[in-house]
Amino acid sequence: MKIGVLKESRLHENRVALTPDTSKQLINKGFEINIQSGAGLSSFFSDDDYRTAGAKVLSAPEEVLQSEVLLKVNAPTPEEIAQMTEGSACISLLYAHTQPQLVHAFNMGKITSFAMDAVPRISRAQKMDALSSQANIAGYKAVILAADYLGKIFPLMMTAAGTISPARVLIFGAGVAGLQAVATAKRLGAVVEVSDVRPETREQVESLGGKFLTVEGAETVKTQGGYAREVSEEFLQKQKELIQKKIKEADIVITTALVMGKKSPVLVTAEMVRSMKDGSVIVDLAVESGGNCELSEYNKTVRKHGVTIVGEANLPSLIPVNASQLYSVNISALLLHLANPEGFHLDREEEITRGCLITCGGQLVHEFTRSILQTQPAVPA
Ligand code: NAI
Repeated sequence: MKIGVLKESRLHENRVALTPDTSKQLINKGFEINIQSGAGLSSFFSDDDYRTAGAKVLSAPEEVLQSEVLLKVNAPTPEEIAQMTEGSACISLLYAHTQPQLVHAFNMGKITSFAMDAVPRISRAQKMDALSSQANIAGYKAVILAADYLGKIFPLMMTAAGTISPARVLIFGAGVAGLQAVATAKRLGAVVEVSDVRPETREQVESLGGKFLTVEGAETVKTQGGYAREVSEEFLQKQKELIQKKIKEADIVITTALVMGKKSPVLVTAEMVRSMKDGSVIVDLAVESGGNCELSEYNKTVRKHGVTIVGEANLPSLIPVNASQLYSVNISALLLHLANPEGFHLDREEEITRGCLITCGGQLVHEFTRSILQTQPAVPA
């Protein structure tokens, strides 16, 4: 089976879908790899590194697109899909329920597509969980970026000229990104407080040295498969009152609050930003799904009411070496689950395959994606 790896075309994307190390492992198993020249450069992997691993480096992307399976970080463009061979496959982050034009393009070309973001979060699929691997990196980078913008140091420092008190970091959401942010901020010496709607996250926050902020009534939050499913208005109001007090003392606020399949809740209002100390910093990780801060701007860092607000939508790309390293392991694990060097062997009833298979044989087969796209106007042919 021939695997194709393109240079990512999304603006400011530094990651690559396969590293030389993972390429070598796949080649040793009997796969062939065609990679576009320069695909790894922004992650500091040279064409020679890939050649040494046994991959073929091609200058023309059109040739790479002729492979039996295309591996990407971001979804291919409709133009790229149009150049793929009928019956071939693509594995990438896809967010298919928000991309009707891509679903249409895959169906037109009878391309089998798999979404890395739809891999079920079950133990068996942990090695394929790109959302977690990338959120981990994002949580780390959020703290590093904030530390860089803050005109203060993180740790308590006792000097002959006086004592510097530690920075105060307030984190919303103790999922993968939030917990990594807690760990990173603690390692740097900050005092860390965390708010999450799921009471079961208290233990995880405390085990990392953070203080969990308890909102009265949290036991009413509905969860499913470890995700927050429904948060009542009453709960959000109580949480708001607690935040109003805490946010005035914070030097850094990192927001990662997400409710699966919904627009992110606004937790930091414009009024709260106004109440913050001059020079403080907000990093809004949820900016892509609407943002947790009312004043954050997509892919921009802005200063409002004396507060720096970071709305960078692709933090993993700012740590491309490790982000690519982890993503590459995730995507090759999924490929090995679905295929061997002779081709794909799909069992469409199997949980991982069913969870991430989006289109097949010209049809949209993914139930969740279908349920969302059915409610939208059809994409013109
Ligand atoms: P996750 O689903 O593991 O965690 C989200 C957490 O938010 C959950 O623990 C949930 O209970 C909590 N939450 C929901 N409503 C809340 C509320 N009202 N108050 C406090 N907590 C609340 O998600 P993960 O993987 O940690 O990602 C977090 C966010 O970061 C997502 O929006 C994701 O899209 C985004 N992200 C952004 C990146 C970037 O570069 N900007 C990169 C990776 C992830």
